[in-house]
Amino acid sequence: MIVVIGSINMDLVLRVPRMPLPGETLTGGAFRTIPGGKGANQAVACARLGHAPVAMIGCLGDDAFGHTLRAALVADGIDVSHVAALPGVASGIASILVDANGQNSIVIAGGANDLLSPAHIDAALPLLQRASVVVLQLETPLATIAHAVNLAHCLGKTVVLNPAPAASLPAAVLAQVDYLIPNEIEAAMLLGASASAPAEPRDQAAALRSSGCRNVLVTLGAKGVHAALESGSQDFPAHAVEALDTTAAGDTFIGGFVAALAVGADAAAAIGQGQRAAAIGVTRAGAQTSIPYLHEL
Ligand code: RIB
Repeated sequence: MIVVIGSINMDLVLRVPRMPLPGETLTGGAFRTIPGGKGANQAVACARLGHAPVAMIGCLGDDAFGHTLRAALVADGIDVSHVAALPGVASGIASILVDANGQNSIVIAGGANDLLSPAHIDAALPLLQRASVVVLQLETPLATIAHAVNLAHCLGKTVVLNPAPAASLPAAVLAQVDYLIPNEIEAAMLLGASASAPAEPRDQAAALRSSGCRNVLVTLGAKGVHAALESGSQDFPAHAVEALDTTAAGDTFIGGFVAALAVGADAAAAIGQGQRAAAIGVTRAGAQTSIPYLHEL
């Protein structure tokens, strides 16, 4: 079983010809609400791109978005028995602008996601005990993530951490991560802003490995992935596609990667599956609406 611990958002999406300047009003395209959130997107990608059962631990509000977001997870066969509905709290939302090049700009209001606590993680212990892989991101409170990483590591699970949005993390957390999957900006944030901090993905990955993570995959968008693995370092060029919308591309990569890992693929094969999935995902609009199914790869 794959257990994903993280955020669940309703994405409020507008396409724009270009990003607005400060103080400027632009006319956008049609407004859409699309299920998203890094945690939920990664859970959906794990479910669509593999055969292992998937469960999610997270928090929703008891509002209309919460009902829709829960239904979206259930529709993908995800176990939501540990997705709490918190009374009197708003579900998380993300306000997303997507420009003509498919690049996005995202602002989040965490809502219920900000209330995911160590007690929610402890209550899901039976689920975690059944997991082979536990996947986390940084859209829920850091204290809860640190608690969950420690618990999953102590239970002997494979811990996959996507440090997004960018934040610095305690060394003790990094030392318990089996696969750390940052993009270049997140890698730079983890390594700190000193003049001596490495800027090249290869050096970033090596530096993060020496800080204790067993394997580091630095995702580089259209430039592919640089992987610093226990078995050695390797560059994985991306598939060349015309991007319509890059929202959730990283989540789709991670879901494809974890889904393959959970059924016994080696890291290189799992990276290949993640890349094929993300290449398809960026040709489609939205977060969960863009994530492909295994048969499409
Ligand atoms: O990674 C993409 C996701 O980031 C969006 O779905 C949005 O909800 C934000 O969490």
